Amino acid sequence: MVRLFTTVAGLRCYLDLEQARLKVGFVPTMGALHEGHLSLIRRARQENDLVVVSIFVNPLQFAPNEDLDRYPRTLERDRQLCEEMGVDAIFAPTVAELYGTEPIPPAERLTQVIPPAAMMASLCGRSRIGHFQGVATVVTKLLNIVQPDRAYFGRKDAQQLAILQRLVADLNLPVEIVPCPIVREPNGLALSSRNQYLSTEQREQAAVLYRSLQRAQHLFRTGNTSTADLIQAVQAELSTVPAVQSEYVELVHPRLLTPLEHVEEAGLLAIAARIGSTRLIDNILLRNRKPVVALDGPAGAGKSTVVRRVAQSLGLLYLDTGAMYRAVTWLVLQSGIALDDQAAIAELVSQCRIQLVAGEVSPDDETLATTRVWINDHEVTQAIRSLEVTDQVSAIAAQSAVRQELVKQQQRYGRKGGIVVEGRDIGTHVFPDAELKIFLTASVQERARRRQQDLKNQGQAEIDLEELERSIYLRDQKDSTREIAPLQQATDAIELQTDHLNIDQVTEKIVQMYRQKVSELSL
Ligand code: PAJ
Repeated sequence: MVRLFTTVAGLRCYLDLEQARLKVGFVPTMGALHEGHLSLIRRARQENDLVVVSIFVNPLQFAPNEDLDRYPRTLERDRQLCEEMGVDAIFAPTVAELYGTEPIPPAERLTQVIPPAAMMASLCGRSRIGHFQGVATVVTKLLNIVQPDRAYFGRKDAQQLAILQRLVADLNLPVEIVPCPIVREPNGLALSSRNQYLSTEQREQAAVLYRSLQRAQHLFRTGNTSTADLIQAVQAELSTVPAVQSEYVELVHPRLLTPLEHVEEAGLLAIAARIGSTRLIDNILLRNRKPVVALDGPAGAGKSTVVRRVAQSLGLLYLDTGAMYRAVTWLVLQSGIALDDQAAIAELVSQCRIQLVAGEVSPDDETLATTRVWINDHEVTQAIRSLEVTDQVSAIAAQSAVRQELVKQQQRYGRKGGIVVEGRDIGTHVFPDAELKIFLTASVQERARRRQQDLKNQGQAEIDLEELERSIYLRDQKDSTREIAPLQQATDAIELQTDHLNIDQVTEKIVQMYRQKVSELSL
């Protein structure tokens, strides 16, 4: 049953008792929960042992002329929804519990967190003076109270998300910020607690926000990257619904939030508009990159062969994450650091630089290294295939600091796109915004049969099919529940069942999907 706490003391006591090395996922909200919030909670539930949701209408982030008093408060209904979603605890403090006195003390008596001025100079920061300071302050307090491993935020509030990502990085807060996609009504209107203020007619009118963003996206996909033209496209569409009064339409750098003249890698196109007295926001990310292809699936589904073939035939880089772990293992072995000295390894890995360059596929054996690898400017393409590295790589890859650092390096590669990556959680964790996600799978029976054939081809003693099936089944279970990088199918992944397909056919199917995606994106 979901527990409800209204005091910091109660919540901390509960967490101290329950937490003992469990992963805590945290979803901060102001309540009046809707499907947008629930999508964050669902994700947190999938990825953590314990899920905490806070419900607090934060007075500090409302200006005197804003809707603090009118903001919907529906705690009992929210509690029920949290119960249904399997939330463990709700933190719903009073203003006095969080800020000491009520009403909240004057600004000069309160320590506040002030985000960089440049990030508040655009979009909502321009008109909502003090808003992001209020958000940064309350989120810092909530993170300190809950001390989660991960905190979930929606892309709906893109400026808030960018500011909080920066806050966590700048102040070294020990939490991973997980951005989540925008949930919309069927007509395109982004869900918001403030939609409750709208009449049925206004909800229809409000759909013009997303329509206008899509119109700009369409123009962008035809190759027009000029800010002036893209904003003009948004405004042209907005003007078709006079009831909607735009406050701003801006195109900014997605992380820095500074204005862009044209989109190079990516741009955040954002709108704020009023319908009657209700203020709504929406945004879309415009990305100028070749697709990222994320290939996940259980062991033995043929990912490692397919991924090389696909990269080769599309001229993309195969981001060989296995080679990255091998390179790090090689470095650790070279350095003489003990393999169980996790702290020393963390320090070494966080300073290393890995480079990958696409190589040729060997016509005889496509499982050979197809990517050339450097670590700290030292080529290790051959060295990482040594027995010593092979023996130790899984122990090194199991260290969470190693994994965190390598995921960061992988994401840096991904920014420009044009890569194919395989793994267990690429589409969910490493590249959640990959343009093409494929979940490659085959039945346990089929994977056992393929394994038996492989062993036979290698001239090894035949193993009973049932025994292979059992071991594959157990491995699947272990992979889905493991602490580090558990196997997960992204909700937006295309499942490709390969029982009746050979490698060429699987490759061909993926190549087709990629081409289809490129034509959809008009790249
Ligand atoms: P609130 O508006 O309640 O939103 C809570 C979280 O839900 C935010 O991360 C927001 O981006 C996300 N969210 C809202 N609508 C969404 C949608 N349609 N799709 C996806 N995510 C959506 O944002 C706040 O509260 C506050 O500023 C808070 C961070 C709690 C600090 O007070």
